[in-house]
Amino acid sequence: MYRVLEKRELAMRNVWYKIHAPHVARKVQPGQFVIVRAFPNGERIPLTPVIWDREEGWIVLITFIRGKTTMRMANELKVGDSILNVAGPLGNPAEMKKFGKILAIGAYTGIVETFPIARAWHELGNEVTTLHVTFEPMVILDDMIPNYVDRHILKPVPLDPNKDFPSNMKNVTKVLTETVREMLERENYDLVFMVGPAGDQKAVFEVVKEFGVPMKADLHPIMVDGTGMCGACRVTVGGEVKFACIDGPEFDAYQVDWDVLIARVGYYTDMERRAMEEYMKALQGGEQ
Ligand code: FES
Repeated sequence: MYRVLEKRELAMRNVWYKIHAPHVARKVQPGQFVIVRAFPNGERIPLTPVIWDREEGWIVLITFIRGKTTMRMANELKVGDSILNVAGPLGNPAEMKKFGKILAIGAYTGIVETFPIARAWHELGNEVTTLHVTFEPMVILDDMIPNYVDRHILKPVPLDPNKDFPSNMKNVTKVLTETVREMLERENYDLVFMVGPAGDQKAVFEVVKEFGVPMKADLHPIMVDGTGMCGACRVTVGGEVKFACIDGPEFDAYQVDWDVLIARVGYYTDMERRAMEEYMKALQGGEQ
C-alpha cells in the first residue's frame, strides 16, 4: 500500500499528491511514468512523477480531474489513506545529453511531464527555456519551475465565459503557436520538446517544422496496462506501429502520424465524460 503523505489543490482541478512509493522513488528517471490504481476494481491511470526523493522514498504526482477516477481520488483520498497500487517506473527515460539550447513546452497539465525532463536537461548543462501555456485558473508550478531552468515563460490565457470550451481551447492553441513562432524567429534553438494535447502538439510541430528545428514529443494516448500487452496506447511512428508505453513515451515529432493519434485520443473523450457524470450523479444521490 502506498500512503498519501500530502495532498493539496494547486489550481482549478489540479491536485498534488505526495505518495510513499520507495521502489518508484529509488529508480525513476525523468520521462518515465507510473500506473496508479487508487481503488479496488478501479481504473488504472498513467501519471508522471514530478519530483521525488530517493532516500525518503516519496514521489509527487499531480492529477488533473478529467474523469471518474481522478475525481474520486480528489474527493475520497485523504492524507494518511493508502493508494492500492503504484506500478513502475514504466516507459523509457527521456534522452539525456547536451543538446544546447532547448525550448521545453507544456500545454495545460503537460507542464507536469515537461518539468522533470527540462530540469534534468538544465542540470546537464543545456540552456533550457520552459514555456507553459494554459488557462489562467489552471496555472501550476510557476513558483517552482523558475528555480530549476534558465528561463520560465508563462502565458496564462483568460477563460472566456461567453465562449464554449472548444472555442476557449482554440485561444490556447493560438497563443501557443504564436509564442513558439515568435521565439523561433528571435532565437536559434537546437531542440524543441513538447507535452500536451495531441492537437496542440501537432499545431506546434507545424510551426517548428517551418524552422527545421529538431522536435521531440512525449505522446500520451490512452494507456491501460503500461507494459505493452493491451495495445491501447498504439501510435504510428515512422510508418510503424509502436506502443507509447514501451517504445516511448518520447518520439521524434517528425515521424509521428499526428492525425492517427488525434483520432485515437478522441475515441475516449465521450466515455470519460459519461463516467464522470455517472459518478457525480451517484454522489448527489448519496451513493459511492
Ligand atoms: Fe497497453 Fe501500452 S498501455 S500496450
